[in-house]
Amino acid sequence: MSAEAQKRAAAEAAVATIQSGSIIGVGSGSTVNHFIDALAASDTQIEAAVAASEASAERLRGHGIEVRDANQVTELAVMIDGADEINRHLQMIKGGGGALTREKIIAALSHQFICIADASKQVTALGDFPLPVEVIPMARSYVGRQMLKLGGHPELREGFTTDNGNVILDVRRLDLSEPLHREQQLNNIAGIVTNGLFALRPADELLVGTDDGVERVTA
Ligand code: A5P
Repeated sequence: MSAEAQKRAAAEAAVATIQSGSIIGVGSGSTVNHFIDALAASDTQIEAAVAASEASAERLRGHGIEVRDANQVTELAVMIDGADEINRHLQMIKGGGGALTREKIIAALSHQFICIADASKQVTALGDFPLPVEVIPMARSYVGRQMLKLGGHPELREGFTTDNGNVILDVRRLDLSEPLHREQQLNNIAGIVTNGLFALRPADELLVGTDDGVERVTA
């Protein structure tokens, strides 16, 4: 089964978990796009969604699904989102598409976080995928130097601005063997808005498409 078919299968399995009438959080990326399309094609009628990117919001609206601002909700039953890497503790690297900050906000608002992915996203150790770090533009050089001090190799994502008007540094070779500690440490560096480690708030459940069907993994 292709990665695309695995993503679609995981997305369809996630739709089956959604209750009609609920307000849900929707992440971003190609797997989430499958989820949005599958949700729209299903009998499940949600009340509204809070979206992690302008692209997801547009896709939801295109299907006639109402999109609400995060400030209009106090909590969300569930968030559905993809990942760039996910380990057996359901800790993740996210932000390949640059939507990490809004994804982290929606994850914080959500009781349950269901990650949907193709099998290639499952890893034994996080860190082959460069860690996306969203940075206030004036702090780009300072944060880059801090990453070097920590053993990382930062690279500016050229020509890319986040939905929040910031830049992304993709950081390779950072030791991520202690994801909780690393996430907290990076949170304390001035100028970093968000780092792409989701360890403080890991997923609660992973629906992963495999050649043998969709597997459900819990931490
Ligand atoms: C977006 O910023 C990311 O966090 C995505 O969730 C992640 O990159 C997964 O994307 P795909 O579903 O396209 O693989």
